[in-house]
Amino acid sequence: MPGSEFIGAEERKEVLDVLESGILFRYGYDNQRNNHWKAFELEAEVRKFTGAPFAHAVSSGSTAVSTAMASAGIGYGDEVIVTPFTYIATIEAIFLAGAIPVFADIDETLCLSAEGIQKALTPNTKGICLVHMCGASADMDSIMPLVEANNLTLVEDAGQALGAFFKGKSVGLFGVSGAYSFDFFKITTAGEGGVCVANDEKVYHTMTQFSDHGHTHIGDNRGMEQHPIMGTNFRISELNAAIGKAQMQRIGYVRDKNLKNKAHIRRAIEDIDGITFRNMTDPSGDSGTFLNFFLPTQELAEKVVSRLAKEGLGGFNYWYRNMYHFINQWEHVKNMSVPMTIVAQKLGTPQDYNKLDLPGAQNVIGRLISLGIRANWPENELNEFSEKLRAILKSTV
Ligand SMILES: Cc1ncc(COP(=O)(O)O)c(C=O)c1O
Repeated sequence: MPGSEFIGAEERKEVLDVLESGILFRYGYDNQRNNHWKAFELEAEVRKFTGAPFAHAVSSGSTAVSTAMASAGIGYGDEVIVTPFTYIATIEAIFLAGAIPVFADIDETLCLSAEGIQKALTPNTKGICLVHMCGASADMDSIMPLVEANNLTLVEDAGQALGAFFKGKSVGLFGVSGAYSFDFFKITTAGEGGVCVANDEKVYHTMTQFSDHGHTHIGDNRGMEQHPIMGTNFRISELNAAIGKAQMQRIGYVRDKNLKNKAHIRRAIEDIDGITFRNMTDPSGDSGTFLNFFLPTQELAEKVVSRLAKEGLGGFNYWYRNMYHFINQWEHVKNMSVPMTIVAQKLGTPQDYNKLDLPGAQNVIGRLISLGIRANWPENELNEFSEKLRAILKSTV
């Protein structure tokens, strides 16, 4: 949980700025706020780090995905190709947009593969919600030609991948819109928060309006502002934005520490027969938040997971069973269990979610173990951890 390891003096100062003025709202109150505009400053930091022409902060990664989707024009009945391996927020955002998720297969990049996307295309495909899972990029060299050839709307859920780049370009900037999460578990946290990015100014304005009931934010009388569109309240508070701003100012440092610690652990286990690693589409673009490795079989992966638990070595995710990030755990998705009626139920879905055929995902996630990297890992603990992990793997595989 790299971001939360660093909550300290900078975060306190930024939050105090807000509390001292008492203006917790991100817009207006120009005379009372002592020139503190934390949400705007957070956005400026995200633009600087990612190179995004436009960035807009919202209340969470989930609302960032919804905002990114709405601003890309995804809505009623649109088929959106998506991965079966993501946090559930991605899928919820598609359903809540009135769109219809179409699950496609993944590969050892841990993201949708071009082949998987190709197979899932139908004449009704509107776009792809591409999730860059576990801190690194999907294979944009093979996915972008498909997007272009099929005139697809690409939205990137980079909820877990702020700090990741593909050949020099930040994830989130390949499509119409992108989303990052700033929840408690990410490389940068705002407590709760999210940021959407766009290359196009019009898309950005839609983001700012949609996430604030359509407000244009023009003029000095909020009550009388124009509302060209309807939207909702996905606003971030100044308190959360203040923390996010402080965190963004050290993201480069945290990323470097992640990468160093990750490389250390990888070196300790990479010569073990049978251990292989995530296909990194651009190793130099990694954010370093996870070390993802594969066992030769699911059976061996399960054996390792139970040994790790028995030996008390923490920080590992076995998504296939232990976490809520894989479709096998999503009975509520498969049955479209919601408290209201949604568009997908009315229109029907092109796939029977209970009979999905995604052999790549079952194979890859069954064999995958992901270790969350600590950025602030004391050297002696890191050494001890690496040695223990090596011993467990050597004696199990
Ligand atoms: C890929 C992905 N998308 C979206 C989200 C949602 O972010 P939040 O928890 O900030 O709402 C997450 C959170 O873990 C995520 O991993």
